[in-house]
Amino acid sequence: MAALEHVDSPERGVLLLDNNLNVTCANRRAAEVLGVALEDLVGSPLPDLIMRRPVRPDEVIEEVLHTDAQSERVIHRYSGPVFAADGSPACRVEIYSDITARRRLETEILDRNRELAELNRRLREAQDRLVQSERLRALGEMAAGIAHDINNALGIVLGNAQLAKRKMPQEAELTQCIESIELAARDAAETVRRLKEIGKPVDRSRYGPVDLSTIVEEVISTTVPTWSERNQLVKVETNLANGCIVEGDPAELREALSNILLNAVQAVSGNGLIEISTSLESGRALLRVTDNGVGMNEETKQRVFDPFFTTRGAEGTGLGMSMVAAIAIRHQGEVVVDSEEGIGTTVTLKLPLLDIVDRKVES
Ligand SMILES: Nc1ncnc2c1ncn2[C@@H]1O[C@H](COP(=O)(O)OP(=O)(O)OP(=O)(O)O)[C@@H](O)[C@H]1O
Ligand SMILES: [Mg+2]
Repeated sequence: MAALEHVDSPERGVLLLDNNLNVTCANRRAAEVLGVALEDLVGSPLPDLIMRRPVRPDEVIEEVLHTDAQSERVIHRYSGPVFAADGSPACRVEIYSDITARRRLETEILDRNRELAELNRRLREAQDRLVQSERLRALGEMAAGIAHDINNALGIVLGNAQLAKRKMPQEAELTQCIESIELAARDAAETVRRLKEIGKPVDRSRYGPVDLSTIVEEVISTTVPTWSERNQLVKVETNLANGCIVEGDPAELREALSNILLNAVQAVSGNGLIEISTSLESGRALLRVTDNGVGMNEETKQRVFDPFFTTRGAEGTGLGMSMVAAIAIRHQGEVVVDSEEGIGTTVTLKLPLLDIVDRKVES
């Protein structure tokens, strides 16, 4: 094999072939690019690398050749006829350019582009999370500010409603009105409670090792009976993994799952199916709830975590998923929604596994 010290030289390899496709003359660069000695090249047929098939005398060929895997060189080949005065092909000229360096650069640029796109995607996700947590924090601050006053007012409403009911037990119509007042006041108190829950700071004293699979079992045992009461024919299937241990507040995690589950129950009708699974995935524990309900349209998907966004009219406060997001953030995790209208929805809570959290805290 000839020395290849000028492999990336811009100089072209040029050679001429007679009509029997034998090399009649060549420059040194042609021998270099083809990896043969000049004296072996001239006077012989073209090397196998170049000549893999018969060529018509007037045919023009442009192609990219890959040499043996060892050197991994890439050669651009031009091959075309040269004509005599009467128009007949007199001989052929072959021009070779070593484009290895260019190709390597192109591949590197493509790789860098891909890396950049991935970084961009992660940056956008991080930004979204930041906006989301900032919005929830602001909402929580506001809620904390008004919660005290509203709760006081609600206390007075409830107290007086109960007093009125006791004083006039015989007035059935009035009792019904008072019960409506009580119900509305309790709903309002629940909304305030949920708002406060969203803005709550992390309370480490309540944190400990929590098994997500146990959370699932607990939430199912407490919530499923309430649906059966409402005669829902919802089927719940579970697929629970071992070792999904996270560091967290079990009450908050139960609250998160209850909200996700309640949404799923509301989304399925008749013989709906809800699947709850836990699993491990690269340092994280996943809690996934899939339903075959109505699914979400694009707008709902975009706004599902917006506080007060609801498609359930007066029935919903639009705080359920905001609570889930706030709880996920407090647990250093995230919540992801996949949904297709008319097909169903999957909500996945992704939380760092216990030992990963420990390592982060230590470092
Ligand atoms: N599993 C689901 N399937 C279809 N749509 C869903 C599902 N989960 C949430 N959504 C949509 O997202 C909206 C917001 O959900 P979120 O739980 O925050 O509020 P809500 O259920 O409307 O009210 P709240 O939970 O406060 O009673 C819902 O109104 C619904 O449109
Ligand atoms: Mg909800």
